[in-house]
Amino acid sequence: MISLITGGAQGIGFATAEYLVRKGGKVCLMDRAGLSEAAEKLKGDVIVIEGDVTNAAEVDEAVSRTVAEFGGLDTLVTAAGIVTVEPAIDVSAEAFLKMMSVNVLGSFLPAQSAARHMSVNGGGNITFIGSVYGSVGAPKRTAYCASKGAVHNMMQSLAVEWGPLGIRVNAVAPTGVRTPMIQALIDKGQYNMQGVRNRTPLGRIAEPEEVAAAVAFLSSPEASMIHGIVLPVDGGWIANGYTW
Ligand SMILES: NC(=O)c1ccc[n+]([C@@H]2O[C@H](COP(=O)([O-])OP(=O)(O)OC[C@H]3O[C@@H](n4cnc5c(N)ncnc54)[C@H](O)[C@@H]3O)[C@@H](O)[C@H]2O)c1
Repeated sequence: MISLITGGAQGIGFATAEYLVRKGGKVCLMDRAGLSEAAEKLKGDVIVIEGDVTNAAEVDEAVSRTVAEFGGLDTLVTAAGIVTVEPAIDVSAEAFLKMMSVNVLGSFLPAQSAARHMSVNGGGNITFIGSVYGSVGAPKRTAYCASKGAVHNMMQSLAVEWGPLGIRVNAVAPTGVRTPMIQALIDKGQYNMQGVRNRTPLGRIAEPEEVAAAVAFLSSPEASMIHGIVLPVDGGWIANGYTW
């Protein structure tokens, strides 16, 4: 399987790359930084492309190089993303637009570019990294929640439009995952780990490898009839409506 993973230099994207390489896949990592370190850690068929997911030309270049160097593109995983924590009253128009640009447009452009290839080359599959916050709201995360809700909804539209072209489209919705993104929030006192544990029936946040396994399943032939879904990877966080 030949995959392109955006945001592949660290966190969920990197864990997904590790998983797919371990299963014998060929992987292209696209990220704006950290690529040589990531490539060194991955033993296997890996190429890296520095670029910004909000730049259509750079995204097209990543798709073209993947196809040129590996001979095709079966799977796209969009793991590039950002988070901010700020009272809604203070969020600037620029900050809101940046969130939408990276998390929504930065998921759409790679999907569009990949679909242009897949639709005329036998199909493929796309998995977006959404979030539990694509389904529910949270204080100080208005822009982030809005962006993830948009990703989930966009996934459904693309599934409807591209299913007939042979392209399966899905999303995963993780709870907190132990990545540099969450560590940065923890370091700034912006992540209530105990609160998350309390709400989560399995009592913990996720490891990146657990999200990678779900993404790999959705990308695999075993998921051939799974299309247009948001798969929670959350230890039951969404299911729990109990309040303490
Ligand atoms: N970590 C969590 O708790 C968690 C939970 C739910 C959803 N998610 C989502 O999963 C995705 C990955 O998160 P993570 O925790 O691995 O984050 P991370 O910050 O550890 O990794 C994200 C990667 O995306 C890259 N990136 C950011 N903006 C980019 C851009 N414009 N162009 C190219 N690359 C860019 C970064 O350089 C980084 O390597 C994000 O969409 C995030 O919102 C994360």
